Amino acid sequence: MKKKTLVGVFSLFVFLVGCTNPNTEDSSNNNRMNQSFENENNHMMNTPSESGTNHMNASNIGPLESSKGLNELKIPEVLEKQENSEVDYEITASIGTTEFFEGTQTETYGYNGYLLGPTVRLKKGETIKVRFTNDLNELTTVHWHGLEIPGEVDGGPNQIILPGEDRIITLEADQPSATLWYHPHPHGDTGKQVFKGLGGLLYIDEPEDATHIYPDNYGINDIPLIFQDRQFDENDQLNYEQLMDIDGTLGNIGLINGTMDPKLTVTEPIMRFRLLNASNAREYTFRLNNGDSFKQIASDGSKLKQPVEMQEITLTPSERVEVLIDFSKIEPQESIAITDEFGNTLLPLELAFDPQQRETISELTTDEPFLSEEEKNLPISKKVELFGQMNMVTINGRKFDPNRIDLRQEHGVTEVWEIYNRPDMMGGMTHPFHIHGTQFKIISRDNVEVAPNEQALKDSVLVESGERVKLLVTFPEKGIFPYHCHILEHEDNGMMGLIEVY
Ligand code: C2O
Ligand code: CU
Ligand code: CU
Repeated sequence: MKKKTLVGVFSLFVFLVGCTNPNTEDSSNNNRMNQSFENENNHMMNTPSESGTNHMNASNIGPLESSKGLNELKIPEVLEKQENSEVDYEITASIGTTEFFEGTQTETYGYNGYLLGPTVRLKKGETIKVRFTNDLNELTTVHWHGLEIPGEVDGGPNQIILPGEDRIITLEADQPSATLWYHPHPHGDTGKQVFKGLGGLLYIDEPEDATHIYPDNYGINDIPLIFQDRQFDENDQLNYEQLMDIDGTLGNIGLINGTMDPKLTVTEPIMRFRLLNASNAREYTFRLNNGDSFKQIASDGSKLKQPVEMQEITLTPSERVEVLIDFSKIEPQESIAITDEFGNTLLPLELAFDPQQRETISELTTDEPFLSEEEKNLPISKKVELFGQMNMVTINGRKFDPNRIDLRQEHGVTEVWEIYNRPDMMGGMTHPFHIHGTQFKIISRDNVEVAPNEQALKDSVLVESGERVKLLVTFPEKGIFPYHCHILEHEDNGMMGLIEVY
């Protein structure tokens, strides 16, 4: 697509070493700078010592190492509903260890376990009660990313749960089927707690709807893929304090569903994958190694009107897509894999279905226009300016203050927000912008109509440096909701505001 991975994260570094790179002198031309950076970056990866002293972690971490395909992909368990209990579900955050490296215990955090968490599945329209218990040694919150629920149960930074405490949270899923997720949100510590392992998937299922035509056998032909990158310290620990990068913590090792060196055995010719970028900061562009296209069927918060053929898909932190991949025409001996844009293998796929087993992809299509004429012509009523890098990040010139309301909007009333990512003298960087309590529509990017694969409900949006993105935002519920950059270190450094929905 349009964006080069990590460009933003590295652009400051490129600026600093710019004297050695003849292409960076025109820093007003961001595209050109990005281009030159890519070359510089590839070069740096092979010979890190040539680039001199690096003061930032980010400059030491390049593309992910290829998966060696040693371990079958773990599939998170689906959380069982409890019968005859005060609550429907129990979720406990706790500390434990995970053996990523043979013979070494790495300290990790998890929900109902020690790494990541179970998949919560809600039916559309269903109301559930969750008892959340904090067994960590530190305060946390649990945020339901993408759910359109009242502010008081959203789990943002103001809804702290102290160590040893629990809380019963009532959630109602009154929105279309989608792949959402849940994760901690304690201000200043979100980056650390996610890095240590906290996070899980939250599906909304709509059993009666047309989307039922897509493969939906969980873990068999409907596979969740939670992408995260990690680095480990010299003792193979996830030592966040040491490894943290103020501009976005990156890792050289890719985990999928917490599995190191994953591979997946594909047992059916047509597979649905639900991809979540749950990394602190890394942006991924996904491709198939043989160059084949695949079909995107959903974005963050809803299905697309019809599947869109894609060669590659870029996800910034917290974004999701659902895709269908048709393996039926692939020769069994062909080695196939999901890769990044550098060609590094993220997930090798081992085809293990009967080649005679033919299927065709049924497709959901509707002719309803994505935006009505009225929606297209609504004037901008809120302006949000993203700015800065490192710990100098701001929204509308300010840093997060838990006691300050930055914006107000009436519930049920649609407004147009313009998100502007103001470049700085170093070119700026991409910020993934997220709003709680709403599933919005992207109206345009720099006044150009939004691409077909983004014509679905979303809660997070990639905003490139210099770009203006118009969003159509409605909050169905009242309360106070954060909006922020989803690079977790930017969020922790105050690139966040609060909106009061009345
Ligand atoms: Cu993924 Cu403020 O959230
Ligand atoms: Cu959120
Ligand atoms: Cu940011």
